[in-house]
Amino acid sequence: MKAKKLIEVALPIKEISAESVRDKSIRHGHISTLHLWWARRPLPVCRAIVFASLVPDPLDDNCPEAFNYAVEMLLNTGLGKLHYKPYKDIPYTSIVDEMEDNRRNRLMMFIGKFSETCQTNMKAGKSTSPKEQLDDWCLIKWENKNNPQILRIARELIFVAYQSDKRPDASWEQLHGEFNRLYDAIPKAEEQLYSIPNRHIETEQVKQAEETLQSAIEAFQNEMPSVFDPFAGGGAIPLEAARLGCRSYGNDINPVAHIIERGSAEFPQKYGKPIVYSDEEFISRYGDKGVKMAQESERNIIHDGNGYHIPNRLAFDVEFYAKKILVETEKEVGYLYLADEKGNKPVCYYWVRTAKCSNPACGAEVPLFKQFYLVNNSQKKIYLNPEVNGKNIQFTIKTGSCEHLKGWNNRGNLTCPCCGNLTGVDEIKRQYKTAGIPQRMVAVVLDTDKGKTYRIPSKDELNIIIPKVENRPTDRMAVENNRNFNTPGWGIDNYGDMFSDRQLTTLYAFVHNLNTLKSQLGESSYNTAIISLLSIWFDRIVLANTSLGRWHNGKESIEHPFSRQAIAMTFDYPESNPFCSSSGCALNQLEWVLRYLDQESSIEFSSFMANASSGEKEQFPNKSLTAVVTDPPYYDAIAYADISDFFYVWLKRTLGDLYPINFSTPQTPKNEECTALKHHHNNSEQEAKKHFENKLTQIFDAIEEQTSDIVSIMFAHQSTEAWTTLCNSILGARMNITGSWPMDTEMANRALGLASAALESSVTVACRPSERKGYADFSDVKHNIRQLVKHEVEKLYGLGFRGADLLTACFGQAVSVFGHYKLVETAEGEPVSVGQLLEFARESAAQALLEGVPGEPQTKFYCGWLQMNGIGECDFDDVNKYTRVGVNVEIRSLQSDKLLITEGSKQHLATAEEHVGSNPNWGTQPTDYMISQVHRMMLAYRGGNQELLYKLVRELCPQSDAPQWRVLDFLSGHLPEGKDLTDVRGLLSSAEMLRQKCKDAIVHKVGELQFED
Ligand SMILES: C[S@@+](CC[C@H](N)C(=O)[O-])C[C@H]1O[C@@H](n2cnc3c(N)ncnc32)[C@H](O)[C@@H]1O
Repeated sequence: MKAKKLIEVALPIKEISAESVRDKSIRHGHISTLHLWWARRPLPVCRAIVFASLVPDPLDDNCPEAFNYAVEMLLNTGLGKLHYKPYKDIPYTSIVDEMEDNRRNRLMMFIGKFSETCQTNMKAGKSTSPKEQLDDWCLIKWENKNNPQILRIARELIFVAYQSDKRPDASWEQLHGEFNRLYDAIPKAEEQLYSIPNRHIETEQVKQAEETLQSAIEAFQNEMPSVFDPFAGGGAIPLEAARLGCRSYGNDINPVAHIIERGSAEFPQKYGKPIVYSDEEFISRYGDKGVKMAQESERNIIHDGNGYHIPNRLAFDVEFYAKKILVETEKEVGYLYLADEKGNKPVCYYWVRTAKCSNPACGAEVPLFKQFYLVNNSQKKIYLNPEVNGKNIQFTIKTGSCEHLKGWNNRGNLTCPCCGNLTGVDEIKRQYKTAGIPQRMVAVVLDTDKGKTYRIPSKDELNIIIPKVENRPTDRMAVENNRNFNTPGWGIDNYGDMFSDRQLTTLYAFVHNLNTLKSQLGESSYNTAIISLLSIWFDRIVLANTSLGRWHNGKESIEHPFSRQAIAMTFDYPESNPFCSSSGCALNQLEWVLRYLDQESSIEFSSFMANASSGEKEQFPNKSLTAVVTDPPYYDAIAYADISDFFYVWLKRTLGDLYPINFSTPQTPKNEECTALKHHHNNSEQEAKKHFENKLTQIFDAIEEQTSDIVSIMFAHQSTEAWTTLCNSILGARMNITGSWPMDTEMANRALGLASAALESSVTVACRPSERKGYADFSDVKHNIRQLVKHEVEKLYGLGFRGADLLTACFGQAVSVFGHYKLVETAEGEPVSVGQLLEFARESAAQALLEGVPGEPQTKFYCGWLQMNGIGECDFDDVNKYTRVGVNVEIRSLQSDKLLITEGSKQHLATAEEHVGSNPNWGTQPTDYMISQVHRMMLAYRGGNQELLYKLVRELCPQSDAPQWRVLDFLSGHLPEGKDLTDVRGLLSSAEMLRQKCKDAIVHKVGELQFED
């Protein structure tokens, strides 16, 4: 029997979560900044999951001896002895809790360990800056992504794990020797190749050195595991698998994702390498412009007697050709962006759409402003001051506050500033659909030494003649997907409508120049890499040049239209000037691409990316993959194909001829996409669900045949329905869940009062092929599940997981029991479905939590009733249900306490507002019912009353294990969508920050508690 993998036994989930939260705010050089893709998994989670799926648990009896030695030698000698020493006292637990110094724990500490500073701070209840949270020697820390020492350790551990699995008798010394030989051959071969001058010219010497390097990489990777991600998306998992030295494969159905994946996990690693050009060659290739660029570059380019030493050939070429395209394009269309008399070119033009007042006596053409600020931050306030003269509306620009001005547009309904008439949203939509969308340029934004300045457009700017674009893109938006596209309601229903004539003229000029360059460069795989990255750069330019972007008046910057996973109507927008040197300009966009290339090119191993619908059994031979690590679509959460058509429209034009098969369809492929979107399935939820489940099962089925070891699946949806489908597919593909880990990747310190606070964690389940044992009785299985879930709830609660996250995290455990049997039956002989099982698991988890709800019967009643009956109306004398709550409380007192609201013969459970809204004192005292206290906190949160909220937290629940937080957790798992649930989620997501604020204040201002706003 083989040892379990680490992921089936233990993972440092607190540490991974902490670095993952940080990962979301890392920008420079991060994969997410290369090209927009939706629902990317944080790199630390991906790296940790790949690693833990490949190494065995060292405490498993069957763990190969060589691997145990490897852990000893690599993590328990030299510097590792100190750095990977397990915690003396686990920092996030309240009791003194020593972690045994054993090999499993050392392996965990290698993946992620809190720094000494962070440990001390945690104990003292203080916060630590995100950068300093993890120890500098951890595998998953951002700074270590190219750290040769740490990567070497990780790769050697994986090598030994893989080899000793195949050859259990091989000793550590033997494997260590083999690793060193194979691994060290790579830098030697690199050194040889990259030092040959003018290696871009294919001489015999170059060819031989290239072959030597290729063979060295092959020889090493032949002895490493292979990892596949069938839903590769933006490429994070393949990128991390390759970083860890594995043979890494990715596949995605979407051609846009495919280009991003090649741009992020194949081209930089393959081509972003050093080159030395002789002076003659350099000048003949790049001319004077190249010399100037090399001289001015901040990218470590050295010019000496041997010529030009370029550290990253790909980055240099992308920069050089992008700048060339930019110059050519500006020559053609730069005149459309007028310079003023001082030669200053604008950053952007600020436009507002207008509508005609429906009052026949008025008919004024009114700008649909929701508010008038151009800048609104703590240092600077500038606004457009309306001057209404009869039906004439003009603006001046003023400095200061404009709180006195009320916007004219409320959710698309227009209040006319000239006559006061209300024009409804439907009328405005009618106007737009029948006569087009009128708009006005109202301001011009400039960049100066003193920061951004604003002025009213000049006559020339207003009257400039823009060529009328005849061949606008006509590609249709997914109009039937009204969740992600609301612009069709306003008459914007194809992608060409998203751009002004000036924008399209400019974008077409870029496309033309990019295509000219493509033909000048000629065909080669290296040139494909350059053109692909230039097209990625161009996509970034397109994103900053739509008429559906936003002007962020706090940051004074241009925001693209996809702030959510949707294209939404905007009434005012910035029209950016790609040729300036400020927010959104083409040079800025280039810098993002170059930074990524700078950061990710030093890795020696590239990924193999395919672009097809996953699930083809022929894609890989039987059992040829070691592990699958993947992150499937989350049911119906994101309509990848629909929204990525935005990019497809342009990539078809820039890359269509280089990738003819990938871009052969008019739009991105929709039918085979593994999502549960009803508009792709005859508007039927049932059909959509069936499609998702069938597709997922087909893909898992293929994977089960192709993979010899672990299949690790990340899933970020919290609904039982989505989980039912996922688990059905896992079980349907003859696998079972053998490990389950929640990862909390939510942004910490969320702004207080932010109503949209949504929990954002994912659960990773490790699966293996399983032998089903026959039949089982649901009552036995239930008993088993209840025990497991209770244990899991306690463990995860201790780790800080809360609410819906906590409940879904238990699903994996429940399914693992269920998956042992061919069939589980009720006492009546009925088969039990996965849906029923998960409902039971959720209920068990809720009960386990409820067991922990201390305090008076009123709170228990509230929680129990909510669990059974929900918040809706209910017949009161349903004694059965009531007794299930098992609390002893007078019904009349519940009514007088306003916990139960009676209307006629019906009752319903009180909302927070109904319960404590009428009396501001209810729930403020420690002696009040817990539920009243919680409701009071919810109302304080809803109203943004920070002062009260801090006071309540400080006086009622300053500790993370205070019962009020348990009640909130419970509510979050049971309340229906609505205000109360939003508040509960918001409070839970701000909990750590709230408690921290209280603690910080206590530490810093002993005796005199004050809280800043
Ligand atoms: C959750 S995303 C993966 C995100 C990725 N882990 C990242 O970090 O960027 C799921 C991906 O599955 C892809 N997908 C959907 N259906 C597919 C299918 N039938 N075959 C292959 N890929 C598919 C989508 O295009 C999407 O990119």
